[in-house]
Amino acid sequence: MNRRQILRDALAFGSSLALANTLPTVASAQRRHGGGVGGASKALVPQCNQFFVGCQAGKYELTQPNFPQVAAANFNLLTPGNEMKWTKLRPTPDTFNFTDGDWIVNFAQQNQMQVHGHNLCWNSTANPAWFKTTLNKSNGKQYLTDHITKVMQHFKGQVISWDVVNEPVVPWSKRPDGLYPGPWIDAIGPDYISTAFHAAAEADPKPLRILNCYQVEHDTPDQDRGRANTLALVKKLVQQKVPIQAVGIESHLNATTPLAGQKFRDFLSEIVQTGLQVLVTELDIDDTEVQGSPADRDKIVGKAYHDYLAQFKGISNLNAVIFWTISDKFDWLNTAKDPKLKRMDGQAHRTGVWDQSMKEKTQTYDSIRSVLQTLC
Ligand code: G3I
Repeated sequence: MNRRQILRDALAFGSSLALANTLPTVASAQRRHGGGVGGASKALVPQCNQFFVGCQAGKYELTQPNFPQVAAANFNLLTPGNEMKWTKLRPTPDTFNFTDGDWIVNFAQQNQMQVHGHNLCWNSTANPAWFKTTLNKSNGKQYLTDHITKVMQHFKGQVISWDVVNEPVVPWSKRPDGLYPGPWIDAIGPDYISTAFHAAAEADPKPLRILNCYQVEHDTPDQDRGRANTLALVKKLVQQKVPIQAVGIESHLNATTPLAGQKFRDFLSEIVQTGLQVLVTELDIDDTEVQGSPADRDKIVGKAYHDYLAQFKGISNLNAVIFWTISDKFDWLNTAKDPKLKRMDGQAHRTGVWDQSMKEKTQTYDSIRSVLQTLC
């Protein structure tokens, strides 16, 4: 299959769906560029075939003033922050709750956006509490396979791509392979990754299957190791014919930590050489250490977005850039419990392209829009 063909097929499939009429359509999109409300033209999306520019949002954000209009006007892809995680979908070991996930899918369909599913499997502590008492070595594989099967079949034809395995490698792992320790490693071992991809391919072969990777963008010893461990894993999966199709680069960046530059571009090239597609899946900029006035901070954050994205010029296998935090108002950094994410001056972060009142930061917006034009 040539580049972008998998997403193209999935798009063609998704666009043939009848749109549900149960949710409010965004009636008056606030756009500066692009075509009519809900039309195929989205203001931030470059005018080229099958390139996706997405945003992360949950049901909460999408029912607040102005946010849904901005999302619908600018993006052709939507990913739910939490609504498709195990925490939401699996209140108990034996039950599924698709209410909020369906709400997200309906919002997207009503507003001509595709859905990127996040995520089918993550070793994080952000899993249902019942994992601790229920998951074990004898049932782990079955739970993982059943979940992936049921969830992918439920959303069949409605989700264009899935983060099948989220954050396989983390910098703070004490394992020699760098894998994220957690419930799936405990219950299944490192093969949880191949188990998940095989289950996904079996459940619904259409959506793009992504390994969503974390902390590989900066020039730090931790991230040097992260890139090496991630590449080793990707190559091993490809060699073992595990049905992985793409690598997601999360891209939660820090405005005051240098980018890895050539080391990052080499990392991308090596992924491309394996034949896999590349997506930027969770882009935002942490400005915890950035000093200065709000205007100064916006300039630094805007430049960080631009400079990071510019590195993807010429990466032909890139077909999506998804922004995780489009507005200062709904910023996970502001609500995260980690004290390292609190600003010394007590002010809120300014990571968004839109501010607290959903007003566009024009310079940031324009520079992101122009760099996106160069990526396809
Ligand atoms: O909805 C409940 C609310 O009912 C409750 O009162 C409140 C009390 O803490 O919690 C609310 O849930 C929180 C949820 O976000 C919605 O706001 C969870 O505690 C909180 O853990 C959860 O955080 C999410 C985090 O992943 C963990 O799942 C963030 O929103 C989300 O942005 C973040 O996203 C991750 C990606 O999935 C993977 N990559 C990194 C990225 C950023 O950390």
